[in-house]
Amino acid sequence: MIKLIWAQDKNGLIGANNKMAWHCKEDLLYYKSLTQGQTVLLGYNNYVSLMGYYKDKPLPYGKIYLLTHRDIKIEGINVIHSIDEALKEDDLWVIGGAQIYKLMLEHADYLYVSLIKGDYVGDTYFPEVCYDDYILESKRESDVATYLVYKRK
Ligand SMILES: NC(=O)c1ccc[n+]([C@@H]2O[C@H](COP(=O)([O-])OP(=O)(O)OC[C@H]3O[C@@H](n4cnc5c(N)ncnc54)[C@H](OP(=O)(O)O)[C@@H]3O)[C@@H](O)[C@H]2O)c1
Repeated sequence: MIKLIWAQDKNGLIGANNKMAWHCKEDLLYYKSLTQGQTVLLGYNNYVSLMGYYKDKPLPYGKIYLLTHRDIKIEGINVIHSIDEALKEDDLWVIGGAQIYKLMLEHADYLYVSLIKGDYVGDTYFPEVCYDDYILESKRESDVATYLVYKRK
């Protein structure tokens, strides 16, 4: 099962200057409740971004696949140069950023989308999604976001 999880504004914005474009504690808690201790795939830019937030603390996931062209070794992380190895996982959360979402969208069984309310500026957008390929499985609304889960038809 491959699940993409992201937060976007109404225009599909997901990032600004290699950071999140907003601080939304409620959404972060939701994200954490789903991904903590899980097997995840992320891209190098997102990895750098997360390290800026976590600093010396370990990233809060189980098995981590990091996609990069770089020849690097990072303790506790499976550095990969193609998505093939990650695709073999039974249960994989794809946690971004935009380039990685774009690569993985065709493989996604589920989309977990948080629509963050408000107006933001940034430079990184989620790739185009054909929502006709999915059915809306759940929708929950709060003051700050709408939480949607789509399942591939
Ligand atoms: N709102 C959200 O839910 C959310 C979630 C995650 C991230 N973000 C935001 O998204 C932004 C980062 O996204 P991004 O698109 O710039 O970067 P990204 O997808 O995190 O990482 C891109 C990097 O991944 C590697 N890569 C991509 N395709 C590859 C391939 N086919 N083979 C090998 N390596 C490959 C390359 O690394 P190398 O250059 O090292 O080769 C590339 O530069 C940040 O602003 C972040 O805050 C937002």
